Formats: sequence, structure tokens, C-alpha cells
Amino acid sequence: MINNINKETSIIYGLSASKEIAKKVSEITGITLGEVETKQFADGEIFVDIKTSSRNKSAFIIQSTNCPANDKLMELLLVIDALKRSSVGEVNLIVPYFGYARQDRKVNGRQAISAKLVANMLTMAGADRIITLDIHADQIAGFFDIPFDNLKAYGMLAQGIDNLNIENPVVVSPDHGGVVRARSLAKLIDAPLAVIDKRRTAHNEAEAQFILGDVAGKAAVIFDDMVDTGGTVATAVNKLLEEGATEVYLAVSHAVLSSKDGVTAVQKLRDAGIKKIITTNSIARDADDLIEVIDISSALAGTITSHTNNESITDHFIKKYNTRL
Ligand code: R5P
Repeated sequence: MINNINKETSIIYGLSASKEIAKKVSEITGITLGEVETKQFADGEIFVDIKTSSRNKSAFIIQSTNCPANDKLMELLLVIDALKRSSVGEVNLIVPYFGYARQDRKVNGRQAISAKLVANMLTMAGADRIITLDIHADQIAGFFDIPFDNLKAYGMLAQGIDNLNIENPVVVSPDHGGVVRARSLAKLIDAPLAVIDKRRTAHNEAEAQFILGDVAGKAAVIFDDMVDTGGTVATAVNKLLEEGATEVYLAVSHAVLSSKDGVTAVQKLRDAGIKKIITTNSIARDADDLIEVIDISSALAGTITSHTNNESITDHFIKKYNTRL
């Protein structure tokens, strides 16, 4: 347990998507885990009741907005509302997986920008600060006019990659949007970088056109922010093997892992020939023979501690994970 932290002025609430992680963060920090009751009316509406007071305290609400995203988001909004109405001091949201972030711009003329709408909703509900992990696009920080910390997972994932003793690795970004993220990991594990030119052929479908960089004779480590249906990664694996990569691993911050056309993402990745998936528990997930899960509880606890002690979160991440925010 961390000792040099003012436990009396803070409280943690773990909502339905992140209960386990919140419990661990509470154990590490020694900050009380408040009780929240969440129920559903018969028609599906969500009802929340906060059992532990946060009067004038700094509340840290932990909730990933993964599947079912609408319910998890609504639950989060209702809890913010309930805390505001019961005299909370400050509302800090810790959203390890920030859903609705993929629509961060209009690709065609009549599309919504869901990331901006969600930012407005969270702010209007009463959030004072957002802490998240590897949000889909860094510029989403600008959709908020409140403090926003985007923690980075690559240092934690690098520790998992190290344990695999991969020979002759090359870090691969599966699309142009992920190059900066992949470059950070490549630099950290001292590996070269390659980039796949990915085109979206249809909704939730991707095609790997060509690879920039040399992958022949190397073990490819694809690094992406999220794996959903597994389509992006499966096409990347095919292309990498075609171009002479010896084996392919996946490092991914958020294991969304949905099914499409009756095939689970895990099955798709297994069939594609992925040797191992290294991911975090931003979305609650059990490890198995294919998936290695890196626990982010301690990183979240360190973040809360730094914030509560008026210390730099950036410095904490550099020191502990060799990671720049
Ligand atoms: C896209 O830009 C993201 O970074 C992921 O590559 C994508 O959302 C993964 O989706 P799927 O696994 O369904 O291809």
C-alpha cells in the first residue's frame, strides 16, 4: 500500500466494467472503495445509487466504456450526476478504455463525431478531469476543455514483450494512424519500424495494401491501440508472412475482441497465425494460452497518487515505465 497519500480526501468508485481493477487500485493506494449500486429497470434503463458519501472529496470513478458501450457510458453519466447532486468535491474520471473514440472526424459529409459528443456529455454531466489510456487519437484531448491525461501503455506492453525473448523483432504499425504509437514502442525495445498501408474496404473490414519497411526474416510485433473484430490484424498478418516475416505477435492496448459473422476475434487471430497477444486489462479479460494480460492497476494507482500529491504524472510514467506521455 502507498503511504504518502492523503486517503481521507479521496474516494474511488469502480463501476460495472471496471470493478476488479478499481478494487486493486483501492488496495494499492489505500483509498476507500466506495459502494455503488447499479440496477436496470425492466425496460433496460439504468438506475444508480451511491452508497458511500463523497461529500467534498476528490472522487475517482473508474469505468471503461466497452461493450455494451451505451450502457457503460450511461452508467458513468448517471454516477457523475449522482455525485454532483450529493456535494462531491471533484469528479475525476478514469476511463481505461474510452469507447466511441473511433469516430473522431467526419470521413464523409453526413457523419457524427462521436468522440466530441461523448466529450460534451461527460463534461456537461460534471466531469472535472479525464484520465484515459491510449485513446484512439491524441487530438481527442482537444475535444475537452478540462484537464485530460492520456496515459500510454507501450512501456507496460514492452515488459510483456521482453518476457517473450523475441529474436530479431520489427515493430509494425497496422495503419498510418498508429505510426507515432508504434515508433515509441520500437524505440523502447530497440527494434526497427514498419508500417502497413491499410485501406478500409467496408465498415469493419480492412485490406493491407503494402508494407513500408523491411520485415523479411524478422519477427513482426504488430502494435495497435485496439483489436475489435481482428480484421485489421488478420490482414496484416497475411501481408507480413507473405513479405517474409518469420512469425507475428500482437501488442495491443485494448482487447475489445468482438465477433463478426459468427467468428470470434480470438478465433480469427488464432487462424491467422498470431503467436501471442500481449494486452492490458483496460477491458476485463482473462489470460489464456494465446493472450497475456498486463495489469494496469498499479499504473492507475501511481497516477492517482501523483495527482493527489500534486506531482507530475508524466514524470511518474518516465521513471516507472520509461514512457513519455
Ligand atoms: C483503427 O484505426 C484502429 O486502430 C484498429 O486498427 C481497428 O479499430 C481494429 O478494428 P478491427 O479489429 O475490427 O479491424
